[in-house]
Amino acid sequence: MSTKHILIIPGDGIGPEVTLWGKAILEKIANLNGYDWHFQEALMGHAAIEATGSPLPEQTLQKAKQADAILFGAIGHAKYDADPNLKVRPEQGLLSIRKALGLYANLRPIQLFDELLGASSLKEEILKGTDILFFRELTGDVYFGEKQLSADGLTASDLMIYSRYEIERVAHKAFQAAQNRKGYVCSVDKANVLESSRLWRRTVQEVAKQYPNVRCEHMFVDNAAMQLIKNPTQFDVVLTANLFGDILTDEASQIAGSMGMLASASLGDGPGFYEPIHGSAHDIAGKNKANPLASILSAGLLLSHSFGLYKHANAITETIKKVLKAGYRTIDIASPKTPTSKVLGTSAMGEMIFNEFTNPKS
Ligand code: IPM
Ligand code: MG
Repeated sequence: MSTKHILIIPGDGIGPEVTLWGKAILEKIANLNGYDWHFQEALMGHAAIEATGSPLPEQTLQKAKQADAILFGAIGHAKYDADPNLKVRPEQGLLSIRKALGLYANLRPIQLFDELLGASSLKEEILKGTDILFFRELTGDVYFGEKQLSADGLTASDLMIYSRYEIERVAHKAFQAAQNRKGYVCSVDKANVLESSRLWRRTVQEVAKQYPNVRCEHMFVDNAAMQLIKNPTQFDVVLTANLFGDILTDEASQIAGSMGMLASASLGDGPGFYEPIHGSAHDIAGKNKANPLASILSAGLLLSHSFGLYKHANAITETIKKVLKAGYRTIDIASPKTPTSKVLGTSAMGEMIFNEFTNPKS
């Protein structure tokens, strides 16, 4: 394998303590296989505002553009959540880098570990067999439409806007993925109310014609929110817009037991960007309580999508299964039945996965 440059952006809150373990597993894989991988670090979010005044310093963006892949932690700080008047905000860093790198397709697999069936607030018999891959459009929608606040500060608006090409490119990714899965795309919109959703639906219907082997159906987002909890096994690939995807994937994380278990890949035409779907969780930051598995799984997505190392990515998942099977849990996925001796902190869980990981057989 050729030389690779991996940029690590630990970010805010629990970001640094979990990303440490995502990076560690990548380093171990490089060492075991003699891969020439170079790691660099950069600032983003609150950490970057404190150091430079900007949530996305130019230097970080340059390093990101030059990297082959990026592993990111989390973004945000309680100070900003409590004060909507602050103009410079950590999240602007994440949104700007998504836009600047053209990361239009956000893949969020809802991967269910059988060992964690009991950790969800939903019934086991409803969850069992769930395997959903979300494609969330990531560089359009109300996130990036024009924002306005009237001079008197009494009226505000965010424009929900999509262009056909933005819908087409993410739709193609979703249909291509479905061809290698169960062959079903459920496109989620609000076409009964929103003009932008009607464009979404029309465009997806046209893209679908190019994939005759993939079944395509459309669902309104309110219904989808309900169906996800009622009968999650009905879904295969879910394709949706930026805002709907943000909300539905947090909801879907409960199927997997915890936000601490879910990884994501943001893909476009440049380097891939990998991050846990959980946020900065300031309340537990620095307390050795965060679950590092989402960061480790994000490293796995990096291996598959950016480097084509599917077997190594799979070996990461298998290692996690093994550790879960042995009964070890971080606090977010522990149940009242978990013996306290098996409830691990961030570093003990990270270290256990690191130590247990071995190269795939062939
Ligand atoms: C996510 C997050 C971000 C988003 C925030 C931190 C801006 O919730 O990646 O899901 O809304 O996209
Ligand atoms: Mg979110």
